[in-house]
Amino acid sequence: MHLRDATPADHPALHDLWARTPGIQLRNEDARAPFCAYLARNPGLSLVAEVDGVPVGCLLAGHDGRRGYLQHLTVDPAWRRRGIATALIETVLARLAAQGIAKSHVFVLDAAPEALAFWRAREGWGERRDIRVFSTLEHPA
Ligand SMILES: CC(C)(COP(=O)(O)OP(=O)(O)OC[C@H]1O[C@@H](n2cnc3c(N)ncnc32)[C@H](O)[C@@H]1OP(=O)(O)O)[C@@H](O)C(=O)NCCC(=O)NCCS
Repeated sequence: MHLRDATPADHPALHDLWARTPGIQLRNEDARAPFCAYLARNPGLSLVAEVDGVPVGCLLAGHDGRRGYLQHLTVDPAWRRRGIATALIETVLARLAAQGIAKSHVFVLDAAPEALAFWRAREGWGERRDIRVFSTLEHPA
């Protein structure tokens, strides 16, 4: 397994991985054009884990100059519990730190119990009980 930067060419494989993964909700922003725009805006922060040239996991990341944001952490079921998500997270956090970003957030849906269990088990991460997230209501693209 090795990690490399995500590129626009990864979109079909990653979109397929997200679409068949319970816990990942596909949004308009997961279409090819916004995916490519996201990579261009956050160079070197989104990673693909691949085995023999086949993507088996990914993590998208960006920052706003103050905090980092991790999204769509996904590992193919056949490759889970081998440390791939851990490697993705550690590498992305190191890259964020290199850009001066010391703290990051991940938003996890109540409807994603596996993701909740994963993040609750992670050392160095704490579940916030002092913050409520308010979001603009989604509108059609
Ligand atoms: C969550 C997910 C990314 C974990 O990927 P992974 O590569 O299997 O994770 P790792 O091998 O790095 O796990 C490291 C540790 O995290 C914990 N962990 C991993 N999966 C877990 C789970 N489903 N429940 C509870 N703890 C978990 C374990 O302590 C594990 O160590 P261990 O295998 O020695 O026991 C993967 O299960 C997945 O893609 N799930 C569906 C998508 C999803 O919900 N993504 C999160 C979006 S926020």
